[in-house]
Amino acid sequence: MVFKIIVLEGDGIGPEIADSAIRLLNIVGAEEELKFKVVNKPIGGKSIDQFGIPLTDNTLEECLSSSAIFLGAVGGPKWDGLPHEIKPEQALLKLRKELKLYSNLRPARVYNSLLAASSLKPEILKDVDILVVRELTGGIYFGEPRGITNERGWNTLEYSFEEVQRISRVAFKIAEKRKKHLVSVHKSNVLESSQFWKDIVHTTSKEFPSVNLVDMYVDNAAMQLVRDPRQFDVILTQNLFGDILSDISGMITGSLGMLPSASIGEKYAMYEPVHGSAPDIVGKNLANPIAGIASIAMMFEHSFHLPVIANKIYLAIDRVLDNGKRTKDIATKDDKFVSTTEITDLIIEQYKIQPQKNFLMTSA
Ligand code: IPM
Ligand code: MN
Repeated sequence: MVFKIIVLEGDGIGPEIADSAIRLLNIVGAEEELKFKVVNKPIGGKSIDQFGIPLTDNTLEECLSSSAIFLGAVGGPKWDGLPHEIKPEQALLKLRKELKLYSNLRPARVYNSLLAASSLKPEILKDVDILVVRELTGGIYFGEPRGITNERGWNTLEYSFEEVQRISRVAFKIAEKRKKHLVSVHKSNVLESSQFWKDIVHTTSKEFPSVNLVDMYVDNAAMQLVRDPRQFDVILTQNLFGDILSDISGMITGSLGMLPSASIGEKYAMYEPVHGSAPDIVGKNLANPIAGIASIAMMFEHSFHLPVIANKIYLAIDRVLDNGKRTKDIATKDDKFVSTTEITDLIIEQYKIQPQKNFLMTSA
């Protein structure tokens, strides 16, 4: 069987990150005797420059016949002035919607060797392992009506029963396999849509009696994440709150450059680093490829159902960090740092050593 992987490098550091991730994918393929057909397609700003739109029908069609998709990053200052409907980010939103990728998994695990890299105190970070389950195809990102005039700007926050129930089931199933602790984040003291969310999550929780369900307002959740992140295991939340909270949980791990993600629906799945296109470091071989490489690990786990291979990738990353190798974003001030390509080579080298230790970053 040949797995067709669509690679959407996108903008900024996207191509550098995609290069690292796909290099690793190909090595894993060769080592494990798996066949991949990698197809590159334009997306985001690059697609706008070439075709006038951020996502062409051709790119979308290729994604619709894929085994899995890898996305680098989209957007950048060059396209900031464009009208909303044709900004590079629209490509990502359209892909999520068209491929029905409603469930977004963002695991934030603190690597012990990186405790000093975070802006938070090491003693509150040790052994933090959080999974943000973000609803990805509904809520205020997609609600109608929406619009902007010179006098007004407006958006709509709406969720249907089915939308909340299906993402809740995903989160509870994952929580069952982890520490059985689920925090449902909302703003039910102010928003009807959040009261609705809260009630459905409670109803769904009856199907998963072993999981302990806790409600938390989103403002409190943001505060608790930086006060005592160890209290969290699985966080379940709507699209916008998940966007915000996953950046916070990412920074807990030391750098957004560490945070992978999987966006999963019934038929398709897309894997991408949580970080953006980082225009300030483009082309300098400075970007941290670990989020991209860990996203490939998530691909093995969720799309190919090969968690053993995912473990080996996580362990290779772990060993490189344990050996003191750092990209600039996670280096402490006087640390020497290595380039994007160097750290990728080191991770590939560690992968080939065929690590034995069984280690799972997220049991999602
Ligand atoms: C993310 C990003 C996107 C989002 C943008 C680029 C549309 O911030 O994946 O977290 O807001 O979902
Ligand atoms: Mn975001």
